[in-house]
Amino acid sequence: MPKVTFKTIDTADVAGKRVLVRVDLNVPMKNGKVTDATRIERAAPTIAELAAKGARVVVLSHFGRPDGKRVPEMSLRALVEPLSTALGKPVAFAEDCIGPQAEDAVRAMKSGDVLLLENLRFHKEEEKNDAAFIDKLSVLGDLYVNDAFSTAHRAHASTEGIANRLPAAAGRLMQAELEALDKALGKPKRPVCAVVGGAKVSTKLDLLGNLVGKVDKLIIGGGMANTFMHAQGIKVGRSLCEKDLASTALEILEKAKAAKCKVLLPVDVVVAGEFKAGAASTVVDADACPDDQMILDVGPKSIALYQAEVSECATLVWNGPLGAAGGGDTVAALAAAGVEEKFSYVSTAGGAFLEWMEGKTLPGVAALIRAA
Ligand code: 3PG
Repeated sequence: MPKVTFKTIDTADVAGKRVLVRVDLNVPMKNGKVTDATRIERAAPTIAELAAKGARVVVLSHFGRPDGKRVPEMSLRALVEPLSTALGKPVAFAEDCIGPQAEDAVRAMKSGDVLLLENLRFHKEEEKNDAAFIDKLSVLGDLYVNDAFSTAHRAHASTEGIANRLPAAAGRLMQAELEALDKALGKPKRPVCAVVGGAKVSTKLDLLGNLVGKVDKLIIGGGMANTFMHAQGIKVGRSLCEKDLASTALEILEKAKAAKCKVLLPVDVVVAGEFKAGAASTVVDADACPDDQMILDVGPKSIALYQAEVSECATLVWNGPLGAAGGGDTVAALAAAGVEEKFSYVSTAGGAFLEWMEGKTLPGVAALIRAA
């Protein structure tokens, strides 16, 4: 894990300056309404702080994957009101993120104003990290602040290229994410326990491989646990299981043993005949899943075991639910259980968090470090 050294907005002189702030407003929406405003609320403090210091704050973001085309349903115009609500002040909007419309809108700004530019990904050059596109973005600002950790795994014009062109600093959310991750995996208080859930071993191979060398205990849950159990000769019935990855699972277990990382798999499981809300379920020992049933969660003995193991640890890192659920559900589950505040940090990132846990260098973070 690289030591993270980057500039923050503490040292940036922003009064009267045009500050381009890259945030991640890629939030879930249904029928034009934001269904989870977390990323907006977490991006707001940096924008508010810069505006309060007298900056002209130009907000950049992508939304969805429009692939270089203007897709009306992916317009950031829908985010103007939620962002304005989070900031408690008006937010202007420009119909394009480069060119005359963006330039005119920036020119009309006064100190303390906030302007949101249209979806960066309406231009295919954004994802190509295109030099001419970076030029067109750069002319809109005097300084660049990256507050989009959740997009830092992309080497795009607004996340990477522009940091090489303008004086660059990390925003408060970027800073908080990097500090929290460094505490968890960089120089953590030991023992460290990682809980990793998720459907497939195939999507988390690099992550598991990296973690066993870093943490003292690894709790594997979700569909992945079935693959590990199958690899050890345990019958998993009709459960989700990547049988072709059995030897890979055994290699990870070997690597863990060599690194003295204790791997914990379920000792009992919740099984049902189908994956459906309200399906009749029973609890059986982990090695007693009937042929016609599927494993959908861990059982009470496993929970008690994990609780005991986790309580002996000084640091806990968690990615992905232990039971059958979709992506992004860990945070929703924490909120539903009302325990969010019991965690010292909850990341806003999906893919970027995974890549960080895999030990990869994130281009957006690397650019900030270089700039410092
Ligand atoms: C995310 O939602 O994880 C980020 O906004 C990145 O989005 P992307 O996977 O479309 O690059």
